[in-house]
Amino acid sequence: MRHYLSVDDLSTTELPDLLDLAAALKADRGAHARALAGRSIALIFEKPSTRTRVSFEVGVEQLGAHAVVLSSAELQLGRGETIQDTGRVLSRYVDAIVLRTFEQERLEILSTTATVPVVNALSDFEHPCQALADLLTIREHLDDLRGRVLTYLGDGNNVAHSLLLAGTKAGMHVRVATPPGFEPIPQVVHRAEEIAAEMGGSVELTHDPEGAAVGAHVLSTDVWTSMGQDLEADERALVFPSYQLSQKLVDLADPEVIVLHCLPAHRGQEITDEVIDGPRSVVWDQAENRLHTQKALLLRLFGVA
Ligand code: CP
Repeated sequence: MRHYLSVDDLSTTELPDLLDLAAALKADRGAHARALAGRSIALIFEKPSTRTRVSFEVGVEQLGAHAVVLSSAELQLGRGETIQDTGRVLSRYVDAIVLRTFEQERLEILSTTATVPVVNALSDFEHPCQALADLLTIREHLDDLRGRVLTYLGDGNNVAHSLLLAGTKAGMHVRVATPPGFEPIPQVVHRAEEIAAEMGGSVELTHDPEGAAVGAHVLSTDVWTSMGQDLEADERALVFPSYQLSQKLVDLADPEVIVLHCLPAHRGQEITDEVIDGPRSVVWDQAENRLHTQKALLLRLFGVA
């Protein structure tokens, strides 16, 4: 039994294999339609969600399983029951637990007491399901991932962490441009550098958004203020504007660049309308690919494909 708490839970061979399976599931939506019949999967959200919640719920149903969707406010978790006890109890009812939460530690604790697979549906530290959809989207549009330049602009947050790990596992050159003080955490950067050395990619941190955009094959960004940081929004709005994914940055990139945003977008802040609605944007494909990659992930966690 395995968990998916971090992109680093997939090896450099498992990752492309999983993307292959996701592509096959996208090409044939009826594939593996009864693979998880008779199973139940808990989807627990301690933060809001549109894409993750709906794509998991629909994907679970498409694989023949039953989704139990809950917010922490509906659970005794919201009244102080521990995550350990919640994991012990849910494991007696369901076959996997998908959790969106705050500290990564909550997922790690859950994975030690649950006797079923645990999936990270976003924590403050990583968004590993998003990174799978991002890689599938890049592969669809650029064919080969290896050697491509992936530039992430903005906050060195959970999305940046997962992209650093996923991009380097795919052999990409990952550039992260953040304001000073908003860099990805050193532990993740160090691990991404190790992976890059093994896979022939590279990691570059910079405070220069224009330099980071030059020649990039992929430009990606995320909100400047993540869930749980709302009190910092005004302060962040002063620091981040030069990292906005604008047409000026798109024009500096490779002519065939694709633009990603994990969504939801704050149009006019981290990305302009012109770019997100423009010809280089593939954000709707990226959102769709959450469904296919998560179905592939569940099949692999249960060892049935
Ligand atoms: N990208 C993403 O995780 O979207 P949601 O917050 O809507 O699930």
